[in-house]
Amino acid sequence: MIVTTRELFKHAYGQYAVGAYNINNLEQTMGLFRGNLDSRAPFIIQLSKGARSYTDKGMLEAMIRAADRIFSDAIFAVHLDHGDEEACMDCIAGGFYSSVMIDASMKPYEDNIATTQRVVKAAHAKGMVVEAELGQLGGVEEHISVSEDQVHLTEPKQAADFVKRSGCDSLACAIGTSHGAYKFSGKQGIHFEIIEAIQKLLPGFPLVMHGSSSVPQSEVDRINAAGGKLKDARGVNPDDFIKAAKLGVTKVNIDTDGRLVWCRVHREHFKEHTDNFDLRPPGKIFMTEYAKYIGEKNRYLGSAGQLDAVRKIVKK
Ligand code: G3H
Ligand code: 13P
Ligand code: ZN
Repeated sequence: MIVTTRELFKHAYGQYAVGAYNINNLEQTMGLFRGNLDSRAPFIIQLSKGARSYTDKGMLEAMIRAADRIFSDAIFAVHLDHGDEEACMDCIAGGFYSSVMIDASMKPYEDNIATTQRVVKAAHAKGMVVEAELGQLGGVEEHISVSEDQVHLTEPKQAADFVKRSGCDSLACAIGTSHGAYKFSGKQGIHFEIIEAIQKLLPGFPLVMHGSSSVPQSEVDRINAAGGKLKDARGVNPDDFIKAAKLGVTKVNIDTDGRLVWCRVHREHFKEHTDNFDLRPPGKIFMTEYAKYIGEKNRYLGSAGQLDAVRKIVKK
């Protein structure tokens, strides 16, 4: 059942975070649904602009519709990840997505507000909800008080003003994480003090944490043992998710970790089975391994086991 993120956040707020997972293909779709159903978790499927143009945006939508029928117990939202205004308007017009993210965070503040306002107006008219972004993600040293480093992080007072004026339904904040496999080194980490300050000014308002992959060391080691050459990588400590959830983070975005699982499975498979050229054997292993990964992640997020409680509150 497809629901809006608003319904999912209402149930999760202050207790747990909902996993928002990026997908690009059939095997990820299957693994994602299986993993969430196995762990009895509500979830968010996110499609990036890159994913929508990887084959054809219609293919992804058709796969999700099919999965919704096959896994009829699942409760999830379908979300556009990092959309520009054009992509948001396209998803709003299409009517399939339940929420969109307008990422105008690279624009000057007033432009970000104006762009977000236009998307909010169009989305709300169709019953869809909008995530916006303020601040810019990047690797930020936790204990360095150099102001240039701080300018990329979300400023709590500005966040409160932004939410009030833009009308967005949730806000992606720059709190020290970054996209990809190379997030932290040394003492870098999540700026909980910023999340806390934002929550104080915006009590009850859903916050979103991007760049939340954990980049498990075991995955990196296995990839490198099977011929990969990934550099030393470090991601978000999964024990931090619940801490963030208690401070109002209701959506945690994960993409890189899924790619690492994919890479590990395929590298190991083809290293061991040098005579194989069939895509299905590693594809099957990947679906199982990805489902297992999703279940584990949902346990850290606290979303595992929430499915039946969510079912009671969502509109039929
Ligand atoms: O935040 C970005 C996501 O990881 C999507 O990545 O644009 O390569 O699909 P992508
Ligand atoms: P990761 O690169 O940490 O998986 O972050 C994904 C993300 O934020 C998608 O919007
Ligand atoms: Zn992101």
